[in-house]
Amino acid sequence: MATTRTKRPPAAPATSGTRPVWIHEDDPAPGWAEEVRALAAERDAVILAHNYQLPAVQDVADHVGDSLALSRIAASVPHRQIVFCGVHFMAETAKILAPAKQVLIPDPAAGCSLAATITADQLRAWKAEHPGAVVVAYVNTTAEVKAESDVCCTSSNAVDVVASIDPAREVLFVPDRHLGAHVARVTGRDLHLWDGQCHVHDEIGGEVLAQAIAEDPAADVLVHPECACATSALEMAASGAIKADRIRIVSTGGMLDEARRTRVDRVLVATEVGMLHQLRRANPDVRFDPVDPWAVCPYMKMTTPTTLLTCLRDGRGEVHVDPATATRARAAVERMITIGAGGAP
Ligand code: 13P
Ligand code: SF4
Repeated sequence: MATTRTKRPPAAPATSGTRPVWIHEDDPAPGWAEEVRALAAERDAVILAHNYQLPAVQDVADHVGDSLALSRIAASVPHRQIVFCGVHFMAETAKILAPAKQVLIPDPAAGCSLAATITADQLRAWKAEHPGAVVVAYVNTTAEVKAESDVCCTSSNAVDVVASIDPAREVLFVPDRHLGAHVARVTGRDLHLWDGQCHVHDEIGGEVLAQAIAEDPAADVLVHPECACATSALEMAASGAIKADRIRIVSTGGMLDEARRTRVDRVLVATEVGMLHQLRRANPDVRFDPVDPWAVCPYMKMTTPTTLLTCLRDGRGEVHVDPATATRARAAVERMITIGAGGAP
């Protein structure tokens, strides 16, 4: 895809169709996937993978999904061990929901730039400025921040979570300002938004989206609500630049639902490029292209076939959450998994 952006990915992009998609794969030993499956069976482990994981990691997992779906699975699986192929807050959330299980993450350094935008101290100070306010924390937060929150949400149930709150109450929404603005727009609620953002989705702005649409005007468009372009996407629909029924703002799980039911043959996707793997599998007759082919989450890509295999072989990367923090965070996370059907906001 031609683009005027100057930012370059850290390596030459691989190609998929006619558009570049930069995805790093390591070079694992032949038979690694069989060994991963055998070790998982031996250890009574379930492998969960987020939609942004490398395709090879998604393919070897027991379950692939969005944050909400994976949290619900973590809370209900019978296995002794959970191997979480995702980022640290996701593995921490699994540990909060399943404290008796051993939770492993292939690379414990896999953080999240969005979760890093707010600390528990900062949230406590903000709460002190708004006594009585309800705190809604996006799941992309540390366990300490969740422990200071009343209810968590993911991008797939954020609207339902906010809609469930008494309209007379003030709401503090942390930490993603783009998702918060989207939820405020859909619910008509006046929310206080923390000024945080994900460095990957914040780069997918209105100009990037407009250019992708100009290059492929017949394609439908799926936009993750963490994207900086979420607001301009709706403005484009309102101005008639693109037909309103051709653009959807949805979580990664919602994108899959859209992929399964679409009747068009081309779809542009504004989110992290790992998502394309599940979309293409869900509907091979449709061409799914990234709005930004360089939207690569470096943290998600820290889980590779090799780190996953090493984690299972050596039992390394156990996730610990302080039990008192976990108890306080659990109430907010359990509210999250019971609200919303997990579909598109
Ligand atoms: P989902 O809630 O759609 O899985 O997204 C998680 C995430 O990290 C988005 O950047
Ligand atoms: Fe965090 Fe952004 Fe990566 Fe999602 S894509 S895990 S929000 S840094």
